[in-house]
Amino acid sequence: MKMHLDEKIWLALSFGMIMIFMLITGYQGFALEMGPPSHKETIDPQKVDQTAPFDQPGIKIIGENEYEVVMTLQIFSFNPGNIEIPAGSTVHFIMTSKDVVHGFEVAGTNLNAMVMPGHVTKITQKFDEPGNFLVLCNEYCGAGHQMMSTTITVK
Ligand code: CUA
Repeated sequence: MKMHLDEKIWLALSFGMIMIFMLITGYQGFALEMGPPSHKETIDPQKVDQTAPFDQPGIKIIGENEYEVVMTLQIFSFNPGNIEIPAGSTVHFIMTSKDVVHGFEVAGTNLNAMVMPGHVTKITQKFDEPGNFLVLCNEYCGAGHQMMSTTITVK
């Protein structure tokens, strides 16, 4: 096969660029340990109800304007649902799934997480303004997926 010199140059350049990108990503991943922060903690998905803190799902006040929400997700609900918090609160969500992969997306905020069985998902959000937020499951989890929603009310 005969190749133009131009073609060889471009092939070499694009191959070189791919190699450089892979080296940078590899360096960030392994040397700088820049990985996604979640899914570090695991849990036995069969024993969620018996494992703290998920044996007592709910909203807990843990400081001034600071709340902890321990939540379990299952087809097709969020427990606890219809969360109410005062405006200006910082909320730490600690979540796991009791069955399949679910999503936790709070419309109108940056909150968007995947909640997987066997893993503990932790995210924190400050709710400054009063309002009604729709919480949606955004991972297809079965026949009732489109009905899996709840609300967060900031008063
Ligand atoms: Cu849970 Cu879709």
